[in-house]
Amino acid sequence: MVALHFSPDGWTPDSWRSLTARQQPEWPDEAALKRVHAELAGQPPLVFAGEARQLTGALGQAVEGRAFVLQAGDCAESFSEFGADSIRDKLKIILQMAVVLTYGAGLPVVKLGRIAGQFAKPRSSPTEEINGEILPSFRGHMVNDDLPTAEARRANPDRLVQAYQQSASTLNLLRAFTKGGFADLRQIHQWNQQFVASTDQGQRFEDIAQGIEAALSFMAACGINLTSEDTLHQVDFWTSHEALILEYEEALTRRDSISGDYYDCSAHMLWVGERTRNLDEAHIEFLAGIHNPVGSKIGPSATPAEVLALCERLNPERVPGRLTLITRFGVDKVADLLPPLLEAVRDEGHPVLWMCDPMHGNTFTAEGGRKTRKFTDVLGEVANFFAAHRQVGTWPGGVHIELTGDDVTECLGGIEDIGEDQLHLRYTTTCDPRLNASQALDLAFGIAELLRA
Ligand code: PEP
Ligand code: CO
Repeated sequence: MVALHFSPDGWTPDSWRSLTARQQPEWPDEAALKRVHAELAGQPPLVFAGEARQLTGALGQAVEGRAFVLQAGDCAESFSEFGADSIRDKLKIILQMAVVLTYGAGLPVVKLGRIAGQFAKPRSSPTEEINGEILPSFRGHMVNDDLPTAEARRANPDRLVQAYQQSASTLNLLRAFTKGGFADLRQIHQWNQQFVASTDQGQRFEDIAQGIEAALSFMAACGINLTSEDTLHQVDFWTSHEALILEYEEALTRRDSISGDYYDCSAHMLWVGERTRNLDEAHIEFLAGIHNPVGSKIGPSATPAEVLALCERLNPERVPGRLTLITRFGVDKVADLLPPLLEAVRDEGHPVLWMCDPMHGNTFTAEGGRKTRKFTDVLGEVANFFAAHRQVGTWPGGVHIELTGDDVTECLGGIEDIGEDQLHLRYTTTCDPRLNASQALDLAFGIAELLRA
């Protein structure tokens, strides 16, 4: 068990309230918000402190190069597209990717969903113009609705309760799937083989698929019972989301009866986004006192001094696995911007888990007005991230991906070579464009090749 005892002096779950809190909605009814806060504070935790400590330990392995992390899921979970099938399909693609990455890295892969709580979005502008009308921006289903009307866009605190309830049902199903047989290694491998067989380009990955096949046969030949061995059909699956709406995160923060420390029991891991990572503001204050593993996005403007200050603030006791930095520079900027940060952190001896988010620095608007990303940019940013780590002698600990198990047409390229003229066909995201299942698996095979190189 990893012991952490670092809540800063004077920290309380609500100490963020005296600081600037960016990206918070204007709740129209203060009394309703207070009622909702009290209701959430009385609900059971979604995760246990002991689980969060276990995850810190698993991420700590990845800091030291003994594991790789796959963090993946929707940009924004949706209240309207909620159902068992969509949760299953998202889990399925993450498990398929994880098997490929496990083989590629020759290391355990920590599976961390952007799921069961990823309902709030930071926006670059508080309003947007739709058909000539100025409306409040959509901030995620935890806050308001994405329909383009003034009524739908009003912040409604009852949505915090709905987000909690949907998170609880989602997590319940994930726990059942991952411990109840759905995560069987041979089954997942078969799904991957179907993918490899189904397309010409997929055959490029036959080497890896055959390697996995051979490994399974070898294990069976050694007398390992592939059916009864628990580790081959159950997996640990962890939840994470951006800790954006602090009203919600505070209400789900509990003091652990074993350690006496505070944990945000809305998810195993929480991160802050590029727009809310300012050192002397509310979001970092909140993360500094909870004992979960935490993360921060790091965009192109981050300086080595800023990154070191974040390390000191969020991980003063230098516990491996406590702090993840998720870089999201854009494919063309990694080679210049990442090495100085890696060197600074390495020289100070901070144990940081470095992850690559190859999505958020590579978004652009296609003709026709839809936000999209190119598959080649996504894989390209991961490749440049690996190269930067190789240059500095640090470990590229994982990747952070926006995807869905559905057959959407939101990102360009990949196995099916989706073009700009196809984006309108199945574009269902409520926020950023996601990789579809075959693009996600294509990416996993590509990353496995990088890991093996
Ligand atoms: C996100 O992860 O969906 C996001 C908004 O990222 P960032 O804070 O890096 O822009
Ligand atoms: Co996003």
